[in-house]
Amino acid sequence: MINKSTIDRIMEATDIVEVIGEFVQLKKRGANYVGLSPFANERTPSFTVSPAKGIFKDFSSGKGGSAVTFLMELEKFTYPEALKWLAKKYSIEVEETVETIENKEEENHRESLMIVTAFAAKFFHESLLETPEGTSIGLSYFKERGFSADTIKKFELGYSPDQWEAFSATAIKEGYQQQFLEESGLSVKRENGTLYDRYRGRVIFPIHNFTGRIIAFGGRTLKTDKNVPKYVNSPESEIYHKSNVLYGLYFAKKAIREEDNCYLVEGYADVLSVHQAGIENVVASSGTSLTVEQIRLIGRFTKNITILYDGDAAGIKASLRGLDMILEEGLNVKVVLFPDGHDPDSYVRNFGTNGFKKHIADNKKDFILFKADTLLKEAGTDPLKKAEVIREIVESIAKIPDSIKASVFIKECSYLLKIDERALISELNKMRLAKAKKGSPPPTALAPSNEDEIGFEQLESEKTLEGESQEKEIIRLLLLYGNKVIDWDGLANTYIGPFMVAELSDVEFDYPPAKTFVEIYRREVENGVLPDEQYFIHYLEKEIVDLTVNLIATKYTLSENWYEMHKILVPDEQVNMKATILGAIFHLKKQKVGKILEGLRTELQKTPDEADQEILLNQYMHMKKVEKTISEFLGSVILK
Ligand code: CTP
Ligand code: MN
Repeated sequence: MINKSTIDRIMEATDIVEVIGEFVQLKKRGANYVGLSPFANERTPSFTVSPAKGIFKDFSSGKGGSAVTFLMELEKFTYPEALKWLAKKYSIEVEETVETIENKEEENHRESLMIVTAFAAKFFHESLLETPEGTSIGLSYFKERGFSADTIKKFELGYSPDQWEAFSATAIKEGYQQQFLEESGLSVKRENGTLYDRYRGRVIFPIHNFTGRIIAFGGRTLKTDKNVPKYVNSPESEIYHKSNVLYGLYFAKKAIREEDNCYLVEGYADVLSVHQAGIENVVASSGTSLTVEQIRLIGRFTKNITILYDGDAAGIKASLRGLDMILEEGLNVKVVLFPDGHDPDSYVRNFGTNGFKKHIADNKKDFILFKADTLLKEAGTDPLKKAEVIREIVESIAKIPDSIKASVFIKECSYLLKIDERALISELNKMRLAKAKKGSPPPTALAPSNEDEIGFEQLESEKTLEGESQEKEIIRLLLLYGNKVIDWDGLANTYIGPFMVAELSDVEFDYPPAKTFVEIYRREVENGVLPDEQYFIHYLEKEIVDLTVNLIATKYTLSENWYEMHKILVPDEQVNMKATILGAIFHLKKQKVGKILEGLRTELQKTPDEADQEILLNQYMHMKKVEKTISEFLGSVILK
């Protein structure tokens, strides 16, 4: 954990314009800076930075927040990673609170493994480039495969000499501990306790984690002997969890973000050749089947995955089911097949960058349709098999969280499978219902559609929560005026924030971020603190930062010319502060009372028992009176 005083020093030193300026070309406009959004494709700049408030707001993508938020969004850093980046930039020493001794030891252990791994990478790379054995065997192999000197250097490829102890003996001599050599899998222990090299006589593909440190290796044999395993890979260790790593991601992440797409291939060689051809948004799962963690890792950079398969039919069929997982994560999956005998590596070497791109463009298929197609071909004319295929496809579609997207697939599959759309929808709804019963929240059911109306009903679910705007208005006022004093008709001065939270103590907020916000506010007020804009801009939870920035950074507040352009003089809310504050509070209360009344009405209709009805009716009458009082009150404050 980075300690509080370090965080404070980082925040103080940080100049948001300077930080964002490293990634976005900013132009000064009035008190603010504007530039082209790094999160969306746009021609007119809508990305605004306010140095005074220390925030940015991107009107294209809706993202906004502090310099820390910016780094987290753009670089996909975690919170501590973003802080450390800033600390490095401003030469601030990071003090971390050591929670427990074990924590520290674990940290040291991991670091020792990293260090020995880095040493090995250097040893292998130098062996490849600077020893006679390395150049004549390893380097000539890579050259023959078409890897350029730049690629070899960038990916730090290497060679492990064909001797039992070339690496292990050097490492021991340099003072590296046997324990770490073994745990990293670089060396293997003999029965007599001595070590020998795991990768001897193999070319080496180092595996980088997503911040660029080497954490593991793949070693390919150069022998054609069928009894020798083609690849030997690092074992799982404290620094290498196979299921969390994608080969090439470190070198691909920038391009993945820019292209908003990630190519997924199978092997090391595929990544290297495709990358070298200038298509840098490519990663490999390295022979293992894809895991949820790997998908989420990609999902941090893009929602679009394109899987490039070599033309081995058996392998494809086996992987089809595993891919549903990607749909479940809400990612869009496309699939491209390569002709028999070709993999992405051989294809790009034979047909060049343009040939490769053309093949992808011509053969790209949406995963669901690809699956339907593949399975249908297999089922032939057998009606039972065909029914099974339909069930399986609908099962895949049921995993797509976005119901609008799902409905589009239903339509396309109905065409492809020659099945009535309604039949597919009813099957889909059945599956969703079954899934919902198992515990996950029920997704909105699809209604059968007519012609082109598909999608409309689903849009309803995206409507904002009832009362959300009233709740947000309260938060906006707390942010802007909470720490200001209001003069109630010259009688008494009160701080607006504490007054508001006290007035709202009987109100239950429904919109989750607003609810959390008010809880935080109330807690701080109880601690004698009046939290301001900056407090919430730098709050740790993203949800709160988002809410804050969205409310204070509107085009209206960020643009100086806005008032003039729109011929509005001063926002009148400050002229009659009292009406603004009370108006907001009582509008929210009125909305809540309305909701209660509605609930009582439904209950009344359902209750057969007369005594119960009477109780409900009494409550109803009471709430009706409350509603009337509020309305009258609202009329009087607003009109004043
Ligand atoms: N793999 C592995 N162990 C094996 C075979 C394969 O770990 N015995 C992994 C490697 O990560 C490899 C990927 O699966 O890169 C794909 O396998 P393959 O297509 O055989 O390897 P390529 O990298 O294409 O190797 P090459 O083109 O040199 O044959
Ligand atoms: Mn290959």
